[in-house]
Amino acid sequence: MTSILMVCLGNICRSPLAHGILESKLNTEHFYIDSAGTAAYHIGNKPDSRSISVAKSNGIDISMQRAKQFKISDFDTFDIIYAMDQSNYTNIIALARSKDDIKKVKLFLEENQKVSNKNVLDPYYGDVDDFVNVFNTINDTCNTIAKAL
Ligand code: 4NP
Repeated sequence: MTSILMVCLGNICRSPLAHGILESKLNTEHFYIDSAGTAAYHIGNKPDSRSISVAKSNGIDISMQRAKQFKISDFDTFDIIYAMDQSNYTNIIALARSKDDIKKVKLFLEENQKVSNKNVLDPYYGDVDDFVNVFNTINDTCNTIAKAL
């Protein structure tokens, strides 16, 4: 079993999409996918309704997800930890206990050679188009990740 954690700030917009999209492309008998946020603001909440909606219109149900905060034991639970942007990456690395912990953390968009800005832009204060763009970028990147796994 390979375990992969998607991490953003609130765990309600970007990482729930990355979680649901990657999970939809993999055999869940062999891959465990989850998501978390570095901040505690939204613990226990459903994903943002705009993330639920763009996922649903692409055939993916993320409505059962509930926001969690990233915790140090996640370094033990997961093999790969993908940060949605550089700020999330820095926040995760600040909690690492060892070089082995640090080695597990990757910037998600480093897997996508087609995009030059390596941050999945935070759509929280944006509009529906921003959520569609985030969905498309994450989906494209998850295709590459799933192919390589
Ligand atoms: P996310 O988006 O990190 O993609 O879940 C955000 C959600 C909430 C906030 C910021 C970003 N917030 O400030 O509450």
